[in-house]
Amino acid sequence: MRRTLIEGGTVVTATESCIADVLVEGERVVALLDEKMESREVDETIDASGRLVFPGSIDAHTHMEIPFGAATSKDTFETGTQAAAWGGTTTIIDFPIQMKGDSLIGSFAETMEKAAGHAAIDFGFHQIVGDVNEQSLKELELVLAEGVTSYKLFTAYPGVYYSTDGEVARVMQWAAGNGSTILMHAENGAAIDLLRAQALERGDTAPLAHALTRPAALEGEAAHRVILLAEMTGAPVYIVHISAKQVVEEIAAARSRGTNAFGETCPQYLYLELAMLDQGFEGAKFVCSPPLRDPSEGHQDALWRGLASGDLQVIATDHCPFDFDGQKTLGRNDFTQIPNGLPVVEHRFPLMIHAALKEKRFSLNRMVDISATAPAKMFGLYPQKGTIAVGSDADIVIVDPKATSIISAQTHHMNVDYSCFEGMELTGAIETVISRGATLVAGGEFLGSSSHGRYLRRGLNQLLM
Ligand code: URP
Ligand code: ZN
Ligand code: ZN
Repeated sequence: MRRTLIEGGTVVTATESCIADVLVEGERVVALLDEKMESREVDETIDASGRLVFPGSIDAHTHMEIPFGAATSKDTFETGTQAAAWGGTTTIIDFPIQMKGDSLIGSFAETMEKAAGHAAIDFGFHQIVGDVNEQSLKELELVLAEGVTSYKLFTAYPGVYYSTDGEVARVMQWAAGNGSTILMHAENGAAIDLLRAQALERGDTAPLAHALTRPAALEGEAAHRVILLAEMTGAPVYIVHISAKQVVEEIAAARSRGTNAFGETCPQYLYLELAMLDQGFEGAKFVCSPPLRDPSEGHQDALWRGLASGDLQVIATDHCPFDFDGQKTLGRNDFTQIPNGLPVVEHRFPLMIHAALKEKRFSLNRMVDISATAPAKMFGLYPQKGTIAVGSDADIVIVDPKATSIISAQTHHMNVDYSCFEGMELTGAIETVISRGATLVAGGEFLGSSSHGRYLRRGLNQLLM
């Protein structure tokens, strides 16, 4: 079996940082060594001196090629997973979508067909349950048997993905019976629909109205409601893409009551803001749900604090890219027609490295925890994924902490015509990305292949209290 030695770097895990050589044999890490091996004992040596050596990062929330209104998100599994690899992400968890009237297991099989053989990195699935009925509940058992241990429901998007409180409670009862985790998109969809209709009646059709009709209070209300439903049923609940301080407070309060409530936020809610939607139709580039918030209301501060303190456990992306030209422009005269979602998968891990190294938002160890270790544990992949340890998959990212880079649509690898972080300078540059022992990125080149990525059958949540 091929042996590679990653020599002289500072290995950073969620719990410690130490100078060590990492010996990779085949697809696994087989030793962490504090003395140099004879170079003849290995096939390849990678000099990592002066570099940080991280576990491959995990993006637990992506949407490759999903329909949203009249558009389909631009990244396929092929383009999106390559872009992810460029940014040091070696595992994604994406979403089969059951629409109303569809078979649940059928949507799983369709998404598997889109991903298998087309992904550059390993991938798993959370199942979206869009039609709660007796047949779906039967088919949930089939999806669970395929290693899908988390299910997403929506209190938003009435008429599309929305579930009533009774439907949410029914799927939570099922999940409580087998220990799987319920992911919730928490916004009060019915109240938002009222505000959207009123905005259009007033002639407020520009992108800013998207954010103003989805106030933070309606995110907080929905989070409160679904956490109480989770308490009633006993299902673990994980609130996705949190943008509002009210939700951080709800999760902290629930956790202090001993409830298995967890939270995820995304870089866009930390680094972007409401004002970006207020620039005429250009603001459509920043339309996502929940929306970007006003920093003067304290949302961003609460999210950063939540990540640092552990009230929030995971940083993901909700990557759902739409071109500005031809896709976002579908809503030029009506903000409700703008497809929701932002291109982020390539920049989540680099942004978090920057947040730790330059902005000192949290330690490098905490950064590894929220970006790799906690998502691996939350979604039943640890210790195969999420750390550098003997026996773990050799998913490894080597970073030069002194180098800088500038984000731009001219140079990114996502299949989308703009960047919502355009011009941002980041400290720390990813040099080498390894997935199960195979080098995907090195020397500024993509060396991977779109048949490398494997489907991950996942276990249950390993962070339950
Ligand atoms: O704007 C968003 N979030 N688009 C993706 C779909 C979702 O709600 O996660
Ligand atoms: Zn969502
Ligand atoms: Zn999403």
